[in-house]
Amino acid sequence: MTLIPLTEEQREIVQLARGFAADEIAPHADKWDREAAMDLGVARRMGELGFLGMLIPEQYDGLGLDTVSYLLALEEIAVADASTAVLMSVHNSLPTQMLLNYGSEAQKDRFLRPMARGEKIGAFALSEPDAGSDASALRCQAMRADDGWVLNGTKSWVTSGSFADVIMVMARSDSPDARRGSKGISAFIVTPDLPGFHVGKKEDKMGLRASPTVQLTFDNMRVPAANLLGQEGQGFVYAMRSLDNGRLGIAAQALGIARAALSASLDYAAERKQFGQPIKDFQAIQFKLADMASRISSARSLLHLTALAKDRGESTTLYGSMSKLLASETAMWAANQAVQIFGGYGYVKDYPVERLFRDAKITEIYEGTSEIQRIVIARELYASRNMD
Ligand code: CAA
Repeated sequence: MTLIPLTEEQREIVQLARGFAADEIAPHADKWDREAAMDLGVARRMGELGFLGMLIPEQYDGLGLDTVSYLLALEEIAVADASTAVLMSVHNSLPTQMLLNYGSEAQKDRFLRPMARGEKIGAFALSEPDAGSDASALRCQAMRADDGWVLNGTKSWVTSGSFADVIMVMARSDSPDARRGSKGISAFIVTPDLPGFHVGKKEDKMGLRASPTVQLTFDNMRVPAANLLGQEGQGFVYAMRSLDNGRLGIAAQALGIARAALSASLDYAAERKQFGQPIKDFQAIQFKLADMASRISSARSLLHLTALAKDRGESTTLYGSMSKLLASETAMWAANQAVQIFGGYGYVKDYPVERLFRDAKITEIYEGTSEIQRIVIARELYASRNMD
């Protein structure tokens, strides 16, 4: 649990999410991983329970909850299945927040409301084959047309991109000759019914296999003028601000993976006997369990304090990056320790820690690699000198 005091409502949300995850996600997670297939019925159920509109105000059909509540629920889902958790994280943190913060009332009515109800799933398309960490090197081009825009280009690593109903696409809206780095990028609301929209290659991933990650290709895709989000040329800043939220979600997902690794290790170490005693009685194992629990609690405390700061209206760039960095490195480290505790059984698919090990790795990569988080943290240190 968390060190910050929880309200009665937050405790109830944890119980709801934990029960749902145990009953409707955990029993299927191995199968979904093996078959690399997501059961969209689970997304529908998450929508019915309100898990896809947690941060959206009630006036737009969401639950209007605080960020700690959202992160607690997301962690519970991730304990059961990191693939389901990433759908929830991306949807709640990126496209819906972009619509909420920068969308017009007409866009909120048309796109945000059904997303908050979980009837439409959202995705976020920033990266490209040659623009990953260097996101502002993106080349996807938006050209003005009489009735709106024509988009050409390829987006990569789009979580939920094969079935998403609403995709936030960052594209260059200035002249192709300008190439002004982060300037001249706009955000567009894209739906799969637009002519010229194509779902491309589905990645064959190491982990998070049940969550489809795809390329999207836009071939003279016509986007109505009404689908430009906010101000022209502000798309990169919108994306960066949204990633500040997204990184909190990925930190919660990572904590769920780490917690699952600790829980499996505690069970196994109590059952497994070697040299005539349960292996939990060996200090070598106790030290690993203690370190896992300590690292998880530290990362969670920072994450939840960051969430409280966010809800007070403070910037979370610095502490959000720290939270994501700490939580994702904790997840990878804890999953590695869990495999070690399980020994040979940790290396095979009969036990859950093999999947946790594979799933943990991506948290150190997506929504900004650990190296990018360190760059953001270092820049913030110089910008604000606020770590007295
Ligand atoms: N909040 C507000 N504004 C921000 C900001 C933030 N957190 N970060 C940057 N900006 C603004 C800057 O102030 C600057 O604005 P001005 O020019 O007006 O001053 C502008 O954005 C450009 O910023 P930088 O000069 O810092 O840009 P940069 O090119 O040096 O890049 C970076 C900075 C931090 C490295 C950035 O490129 C980055 O975060 N890279 C990682 C990208 C990433 O996380 N991708 C994940 C994609 S989503 C995903 O993983 C898939 C999925 O579906 C889960």
